[in-house]
Amino acid sequence: MGLTITKEIISKFDVPGPRYTSYPTAPEWSQAVTPAIYRTKLKDFEKTQKTLSLYVHIPFCEQLCYYCGCNVAIRPNDVKHGDEYLKFLFKEIDLIRDVIGKKREVRQLHWGGGTPTYLTEDQMSELFDKIAENFKIDFDGEVAIEVDPRTINASKLQILRQLGFNRLSMGIQDFNPAVQKTVNRIQDFKLVSEITQLLRELKFHSINYDLIYGLPHQTRKSFEQTIDQTIALHPDRIALYSFAYVPWLKKHQTKMPADTFPSNNEKLEIFLQAREQLIEAGYLSIAMDHFALQTDEMAKAFVEGKLYRNFMGYTVKPADEYIGFGVSSIGFLENTYIQNHKTLPEYYKALDQNELPIERGKVLSSDDEMRRWVISHLMCRLEIDKKQFTDRFHLNFDEYFTSEEIHIANCLRDRLLYVDQDKLKASELGKIFIRNICMGFDQYLQKAKSQHRFSKTI
Ligand SMILES: C[S@@+](CC[C@H](N)C(=O)[O-])C[C@H]1O[C@@H](n2cnc3c(N)ncnc32)[C@H](O)[C@@H]1O
Ligand code: SF4
Repeated sequence: MGLTITKEIISKFDVPGPRYTSYPTAPEWSQAVTPAIYRTKLKDFEKTQKTLSLYVHIPFCEQLCYYCGCNVAIRPNDVKHGDEYLKFLFKEIDLIRDVIGKKREVRQLHWGGGTPTYLTEDQMSELFDKIAENFKIDFDGEVAIEVDPRTINASKLQILRQLGFNRLSMGIQDFNPAVQKTVNRIQDFKLVSEITQLLRELKFHSINYDLIYGLPHQTRKSFEQTIDQTIALHPDRIALYSFAYVPWLKKHQTKMPADTFPSNNEKLEIFLQAREQLIEAGYLSIAMDHFALQTDEMAKAFVEGKLYRNFMGYTVKPADEYIGFGVSSIGFLENTYIQNHKTLPEYYKALDQNELPIERGKVLSSDDEMRRWVISHLMCRLEIDKKQFTDRFHLNFDEYFTSEEIHIANCLRDRLLYVDQDKLKASELGKIFIRNICMGFDQYLQKAKSQHRFSKTI
């Protein structure tokens, strides 16, 4: 293996920590951000020419995967659930459109879940049309959807492509039958292979597979095979997620017997082996847990330092602002995080009262903005360019982050970071433990440590 990671290193760095899809992280958000505040932010946005990224959350799945950490609502396959949901989603779109006025340009549209393909073909078409009526979708931008291979067929895929989706992400997780059985997700390799073939015929620009390491019954050997099978199908991108075990938030995770999980040490070995296999097969390791073929635009963007990160993962087409639609969805507008209600009854109730269905959020202070910049650069570019920081904020990096001097010195001593002229760059070890580097710039974390719980960094 290229990297030697000892048990000492693991016990030192594999500590609970956030994934930094946002900064400040979600536990810091509060009900201080109300529907009225969101309305003001939307009005501020209305006066600008800024572009948008839209996220649409469809929470439904027919069957619960026991590892799942997403916001889901398990429902049988019955058209009435989607119909009811769309009614409220359309109302939310109308409410927002009323405030922001004219049709705004959307550079990135992403449907996530849950399982967007839980919806019928008609429902998906209706939803897409509703969005296209209210926003100017850039079809050369990212029009992406998350798909559960167990819920699609050729006809549904054709509709998606006709509607304008050009990128597609599939939940795979693991091909091993014992793992699949324990996590309550039986999904045949043949099915995935056939769907991938169909996607190629339909000329989707980019196909992503989600895999998870750290699941029950996984071993280095079993996951080696899953990765070999993955490589054989040649997806353009792979998200290799660390299993987030958060049973205090997701009680259903306790349905998986604790003694079936790989140890921390094994989990890291599984990851390192998978990483090496993917790199050997020609994938570029992109930032933390993503891999892409060198031909994929994400790999190119990473090499050129043009990769960005938001709640939907990494993106090459960043918009100025983000609006989230649907239960639990998150937006970022005018320096403010906004999150919708997380349960369907609350989400429906707010919309019934013609209110924007906001549960909480966070208005960023200027300090938050600077730390967000630093953390996002670490996560996307694996480096901090002090000169760029100064250009952006008109402040000297070393003078501003004096309280972080010791953390930076520790990272240099532990060889997570090294100095290259005006830059602090992550080493190979630092790339694996990038979240640990970020954690030192997270000024809420010390306070949060005693109050909030996160999954392990690896
Ligand atoms: C919304 S799902 C993808 C679409 C569809 N629902 C499916 O599962 O096929 C998003 C992805 O989150 C990842 N995920 C879910 N729960 C997770 C957990 N507890 N830890 C790490 N990754 C998780 C899985 O890889 C999953 O594919
Ligand atoms: S992993 Fe996907 S299909 Fe499984 S429960 Fe979660 S959102 Fe639904």
